Amino acid sequence: MYYVPMSEKKIIAVMGATGAQGGGLIRAILEDPSGGFAARAITRDVNSAKAKALRDSGAKVVAADVDDPESLRRAFEGAYGAYCVTFYWDHFSPEKELQQAKNLAEAAKAAKLKHVVWSTLEDTRQWVPLSDNRMPTLMGKYKVPHFDSKGEGNHFFTNAGVPTTMLLTAFYWDNFISFGSGPKKGPDGKLVFPMPMGDKKLPSIAAEDIGRCAYGILKDPSYIGKTVGIAGGHLTGAEMAAAMSKALGVEIPYYPVPFDMYRGLGFPGAEDLGNMFQFKHDFNDMYCAARSVEESRRLNPKLQTFEQWLSANAQRIPLE
Ligand SMILES: NC(=O)c1ccc[n+]([C@@H]2O[C@H](COP(=O)([O-])OP(=O)(O)OC[C@H]3O[C@@H](n4cnc5c(N)ncnc54)[C@H](OP(=O)(O)O)[C@@H]3O)[C@@H](O)[C@H]2O)c1
Repeated sequence: MYYVPMSEKKIIAVMGATGAQGGGLIRAILEDPSGGFAARAITRDVNSAKAKALRDSGAKVVAADVDDPESLRRAFEGAYGAYCVTFYWDHFSPEKELQQAKNLAEAAKAAKLKHVVWSTLEDTRQWVPLSDNRMPTLMGKYKVPHFDSKGEGNHFFTNAGVPTTMLLTAFYWDNFISFGSGPKKGPDGKLVFPMPMGDKKLPSIAAEDIGRCAYGILKDPSYIGKTVGIAGGHLTGAEMAAAMSKALGVEIPYYPVPFDMYRGLGFPGAEDLGNMFQFKHDFNDMYCAARSVEESRRLNPKLQTFEQWLSANAQRIPLE
């Protein structure tokens, strides 16, 4: 194996390093010691157990808060590139997410980074203007707030001239474990897999693979200036239900939840997510075409299929 001295390695500063997307990128960098890159993990708390685990595995850990521009500038200083992700579900505020995108782009510009991957999503208002009543307008000026603010945030990077790859991410299969998106027991005690996708395909991915794809992008400067969408598979609700049934050895039929019913479920973010599923359903050809499984596998040869992900994780899916 070719040995690259630490001092010659290109540093990648990684936001969300203790989380799903950033964590996958840190592990991808550390698993490739001859790849020429070093991982700089960014966290708000360098003393947390997760930060310690990152340090023990070989990452340099530094403190910054995405809401504190000066801390971001310090954290990006001297790096070759950065992985920029924001944290919508911590605050449910599109305005705050936009400000975070601005902070990240300005810090990347100040540090003269050579390659930034911005974890983004579609601004759905380009397809569903606010005047389109197929879904409600939320918070006065959004259709899918957690998508729209990420997509709107793209311009901070392009306008600042930051060499950026726009990474269109996809629904995590891990949501079936930790986001309450998995099978549910009906009043009759029987399991169903409820999802508002009708008979359309949902591009989706193992969260761990997002960072691995980002690593493939950061290794290849020809991705600068491009938009890349990723997915581990495009599956219908029925196909996911069949795969879960097989992996868990219990019959779990798919229930295509009507969009209005989902929006009315009342949990925080239900309307945002209901509109999100309707957007993915109504613009399915465009949404799927923007997330090539083949290109994702080229970027990340370890890309998991849903079946592979299930064989490692199905037992962690709560069946409640
Ligand atoms: N769930 C999905 O299916 C899905 C799909 C596509 C996109 N997304 C998007 O993914 C984003 C979240 O990414 P993720 O899932 O990787 O997050 P995550 O697993 O929840 O982890 C986020 C990490 O970011 C750090 N963090 C939180 N607030 C921070 C702040 N103010 N400053 C600096 N660091 C902060 C936290 O680390 P410390 O506590 O160590 O600081 C946390 O461990 C959301 O915006 C969501 O919309 C989600």
